[in-house]
Amino acid sequence: SSLLRSVKTLARPTTARAYSVDSVPSRKVTVLGAAGGIGQPLSLLMKLNPLVSQLALYDIGGTPGVAADVSHINSRSEVAGYMGDDQLGQALEGSDVVIIPAGVPRKPGMTRDDLFNINAGIVKSLCTAIAKYCPHAIVNMISNPVNSTVPIAAEVFKKAGIYNEKKLFGVTTLDVVRAKTFYAGKANVNVAEVNVPVVGGHAGVTILPLFSQATPKANLSQDDIHALTKRTQDGGTEVVEAKAGKGSATLSMAYAGAIFADACLKGLNGVPDVVECSYVQSTITELPFFASKVRLGKNGVEEVLGLGPLSDYEKEGLEKLKPELKSSIEKGIEFVK
Ligand code: NAD
Ligand code: LMR
Repeated sequence: SSLLRSVKTLARPTTARAYSVDSVPSRKVTVLGAAGGIGQPLSLLMKLNPLVSQLALYDIGGTPGVAADVSHINSRSEVAGYMGDDQLGQALEGSDVVIIPAGVPRKPGMTRDDLFNINAGIVKSLCTAIAKYCPHAIVNMISNPVNSTVPIAAEVFKKAGIYNEKKLFGVTTLDVVRAKTFYAGKANVNVAEVNVPVVGGHAGVTILPLFSQATPKANLSQDDIHALTKRTQDGGTEVVEAKAGKGSATLSMAYAGAIFADACLKGLNGVPDVVECSYVQSTITELPFFASKVRLGKNGVEEVLGLGPLSDYEKEGLEKLKPELKSSIEKGIEFVK
């Protein structure tokens, strides 16, 4: 992946042809919730990304330690830790990309929507600060329930008069990461070459992997496709149950979050043809927010790409997910109104 290439670039000795930072634009990335289960490994991975020049790590507690630790890594970015409400503005000022993994994770038996009551308020207050201190930043929303927290962010930004639909992203990359891994295992193909779009939303049946479009092609049975679809939809729950009360996916999520933020930075820097799946404001279905392939560019969303040809099984899945996704969107909008 591009992230691994970035890491290898950093690992190369700085002799012969040294990596030049002069040609790479300055970019500030802020992580909100940086001391958490996702926040810590995500901060590490963003520190390894040579596209980042300033890395701001914010949390309600614990960030001085995380920042001191990460700052010793000999890579490009300057790292600073910020803690508590009165330092949030500084953490955000001048930021190009704000990544939000702040909030509580699931325990066994909970749905993502069960997190709404706590996380909706956290996201609302963080987005209010973003609107004030870095209204033009790209926002990568990781906090669950993503199906509702993205509409919450949009409403907060609208109220503040700074909403730009091209700059707000729900991070669904982990669904793609899982779909790729599970497909490669079942189809017995090289996982590094696999591509699978995942559309819809980020919770249970709203996660719709399009295995009919998976490459490299493989002749999987309908039973196999069904099992792969279920496993992708339940991937988060698989981790929640295995962690048995100690939270949800953190390491694979940090990886996925780093891949997505890297794609946003590449887009900002004018790299052509950067395409990732993400949950964004959308007109490709009747729902106002929907995850699909998105082309990223200098302004954030360059183009929301269509769904492409769907199998009958996927068409059915699409219709099945709409009522739940619609009500999660409405719940988010209602919360801010
Ligand atoms: P965690 O509890 O380990 O970490 C959350 C961090 O957020 C903590 O450090 C906490 O102090 C911080 N926090 C709480 N309120 C804050 C505030 N107002 N400002 C700043 N920071 C604040 O949880 P985690 O495992 O890192 O998960 C974080 C969130 O990410 C959860 O909501 C989880 O459901 C979600 N998640 C999403 C995906 C996805 O695919 N989008 C994947 C995994 C987890
Ligand atoms: C995931 O997909 O792993 C996250 O959304 C966390 C969760 O609660 O499942």
